[in-house]
Amino acid sequence: MPDLHFTHPRLAAVYDVVDGERSDLLAYLSLAGELGATSLFDIGCGTGSLACGAATAGIAVTAVDPAAASVEVARAKAGAEKVRFIVGPAGAALPLEVELVTMTGNVAQVFLGDEEWSEVLGVAHQALTPGGHLVFESRQPEARAWEAWTTRERFETAAGAVEVSREVTAVKLPFVSFLTTYRFEEDGAVLCSASTLCFRDRQELEAGLAAAGFDIEEVREAPDRPGLELVFIARRP
Ligand SMILES: C[S@@+](CC[C@H](N)C(=O)[O-])C[C@H]1O[C@@H](n2cnc3c(N)ncnc32)[C@H](O)[C@@H]1O
Repeated sequence: MPDLHFTHPRLAAVYDVVDGERSDLLAYLSLAGELGATSLFDIGCGTGSLACGAATAGIAVTAVDPAAASVEVARAKAGAEKVRFIVGPAGAALPLEVELVTMTGNVAQVFLGDEEWSEVLGVAHQALTPGGHLVFESRQPEARAWEAWTTRERFETAAGAVEVSREVTAVKLPFVSFLTTYRFEEDGAVLCSASTLCFRDRQELEAGLAAAGFDIEEVREAPDRPGLELVFIARRP
């Protein structure tokens, strides 16, 4: 079950503003060009920024996310009319044949259990044509990003000003839990979203990919977050 900030219509509507500038997605688009991909399956597409950007660039895109409110936001974006959006888990998009599968925005970390993680890798593998690529990122546990996660910020959105505060509630590696509180100034509404992410290390992620039948072609530093995140480029043989 995705977190409230993806499933609540009011929170999904402010996700893009709160998430900020997304140069990470440009790196994925340029990687799609580098790999020569003409078709893409975006798992955990959220508000669809990558899906719509890739479709606008001429790539045939299927995008899936279980959070209907986020997909609703995605459907209103330029380029969305060219995307096949599906509300549901990754497997709901099968059968599928694509040259590239992506998981942007650290989607890989929402799969908490090993079984859940190997299942999504299996779906990616089934969706790819032989020689196709799976590309995703994951925060490196060594960088301890959560130590800088207690924040309070105010954002101007189309729905008025929103104050967003975040507090880390538990660190029991590989799991880190945090609570994000949204206060809408317009009517004083307060909504709290509780999250837990799994921080797998490079070795574990590589072992999971190999067990799912992938060859690992390259592991890069995330261009926008060097030292904090790794980008895995794996290939279905
Ligand atoms: C941090 S957001 C990233 C969204 C988008 N990829 C981006 O880069 O903005 C994580 C996304 O994972 C989705 N998610 C949560 N559980 C999922 C699951 N079991 N299968 C697929 N997506 C899931 C959430 O609904 C949310 O949209």
